[in-house]
Amino acid sequence: MPLPPGQIFLLRTLPRLFGFPVVVYAALHYLANYVDAIPRWVAPMGAILIFPALFFVPTFWADFKNERLRRALDADPVPFVRGGGFLGLKILKMFLKHAEAMYPSSFYGDLPEKYGTFFHLRLLLRHTIVTMEPSHVKAILATQFDNFQKGPVLIKSFRPLLGDGIFNVNGDIWKFHRGLTRPFFARNRITDFDIFERHTDKAISVIRTRLREDQPVDFQDMIGRFTLDVASTFLLGKEMDSLSLPLPYPTSGGLKSSTIMNPNTHIAESFVHSFSLAQKISSTRHLNGGIWPLMEMWDDKLKPHMDVIYNFVEPVIQSAIERKKGGVDKGKEESLTMLDELVRQTDDLILIRDETINMLVAGKDTTSATLSFAVYMLSEHPQFLAKLRQEVLDTVGPNRTPTYDDVKDMKFLRAVINESLRLYPPVPFDARSAVKETTFPPITPGGKPLFIPAGATLMYSVAYMHRRKDLWGPDALEFDPDRFIDARVQKYLVPNPYIFLPFNAGPRICIGQQFAYNQMSFFLIRLLQSFSSISLDLTARPESTRPPEEWKLKEGRQGKETLMTDVHLTLFIKDAMFVRMTEATER
Ligand code: HEM
Ligand SMILES: *[C@@H]1O[C@H](CO)[C@@H](O)[C@H](O)[C@H]1NC(C)=O
Repeated sequence: MPLPPGQIFLLRTLPRLFGFPVVVYAALHYLANYVDAIPRWVAPMGAILIFPALFFVPTFWADFKNERLRRALDADPVPFVRGGGFLGLKILKMFLKHAEAMYPSSFYGDLPEKYGTFFHLRLLLRHTIVTMEPSHVKAILATQFDNFQKGPVLIKSFRPLLGDGIFNVNGDIWKFHRGLTRPFFARNRITDFDIFERHTDKAISVIRTRLREDQPVDFQDMIGRFTLDVASTFLLGKEMDSLSLPLPYPTSGGLKSSTIMNPNTHIAESFVHSFSLAQKISSTRHLNGGIWPLMEMWDDKLKPHMDVIYNFVEPVIQSAIERKKGGVDKGKEESLTMLDELVRQTDDLILIRDETINMLVAGKDTTSATLSFAVYMLSEHPQFLAKLRQEVLDTVGPNRTPTYDDVKDMKFLRAVINESLRLYPPVPFDARSAVKETTFPPITPGGKPLFIPAGATLMYSVAYMHRRKDLWGPDALEFDPDRFIDARVQKYLVPNPYIFLPFNAGPRICIGQQFAYNQMSFFLIRLLQSFSSISLDLTARPESTRPPEEWKLKEGRQGKETLMTDVHLTLFIKDAMFVRMTEATER
């Protein structure tokens, strides 16, 4: 049995933490024995006082050096947030409070009003620079790519889930992974819609059956199964078939852990549960920063869930490796799944396993969140639903299976997806760590560049940026897909493409972007071929997903939300989104 994370952490840190004080104590004690003028209490006192010095002296020294560097570069400092309290704990407390009723574009409280679109926080002595400036994000992701990496705290928090997969590595190892997975996303592969067809049809039939019982459907739950079934098919060629399990009713509540850990529970059920908790636990670890192991002194919270995940993926990978060794797949031209593609390049079980899990983390919840928010918005804006449905009927008709060429031509569909991604980006916050000190270009012409110290964490928020009125126009808080088609595109997006970054940008841009657009488009077309109207069933809304009263006072979207959002790694709707739909009569 390996030790729990907390105990490993203590074994590693205590010697480092106490080593220096022990030396100080011993030295002073020894001196006091020989020099009568030094009283006995000096030794323990010195050992205690050295603690704060250990932390603060290096900090002051670094600050001093940074200030000199900044002047040498003739750069301005990023506005510093005052009143954060000791070690920034007041601000951390505010963040934790906001994380409880999480609305992405109000996470930072009144800081943006007070300080503007970028500001500097000192959280537990670490430099944290928050920005929602397109030019900064461009520097982080593209022009200064090599200087901004996934930071050590992020990597350590996620390594037990992601291993050394593409998501969680930097530099040459990252390049290797990018090369390993790229062939799968080649154009001919992702324009093959066969994968989507079977699962979409299954999803539609499950929805229809439930609605015919005169019961609402939890769209978010259903679509999460759909993206899981698609992902398990294209990644592993192994059917998860979670859409075959009974859908929840409004009253059924959540799954119980006892059922999940029961070996007789259907694999899809335990997998869905463990996969989602594994992400939640890893994100909580990340929120707690470098000291997360202290919250897990007696047990490893993640491990039981990783066991469930590994138990599903490992045998599939093992048998693919054996098939290759046995030469069974020789001469097969097209590799259809990502697993085929990976096995062709390596025999390393752990490498393939971690890469598969990374793909699942990257692709499953992002896609289902976008579809959930798109359906949420279409239910609130029947005029856009009608317009989109008209485009579907004009392009594909009421029954035919959509093809890649259909999807390519459907401008309004793309605009609806883009507008959902703008208001509800599945990755609302992201972060990088500055390797060396650097500067960001000035925001105003003729202004000075901004100084970024080495080691700083850069938190950039696409969610905030996507809602800025100065970047998107006065109606930025409204859901209006036409802004991606009419004169507003030329006015706002075309001259400044970095204002819209749901998939990030630069060398690490989402590798699954086209795949995701195709999958989402295919599903929405099928949905609107089958149903002609959608409405939220607010009577079925669980109490936990009713937005708090203070949201109503907020301007724009937040004041109008009827459902509550939440964020772990990705943005989603809290707990459930029950909808009712009317069956189409055209077919
Ligand atoms: C609407 C759906 C999606 C959205 C909004 C989205 C968004 C993103 C974002 C913001 C990143 C950058 C994360 C970072 O570097 O910090 C990313 C990376 C990535 N995405 Fe997606 N994604 C989506 C769907 C998918 C799908 C379907 C797949 C795979 C099948 C996928 C695979 C990946 C991978 C592998 C990376 C890491 C790339 C790298 O680090 O080089 N994504 N995605
Ligand atoms: C949607 O956004 C993508 C960028 O992610 C862009 O390439 C595309 O042109 C946009 N399309 C429409 C119709 O808005």
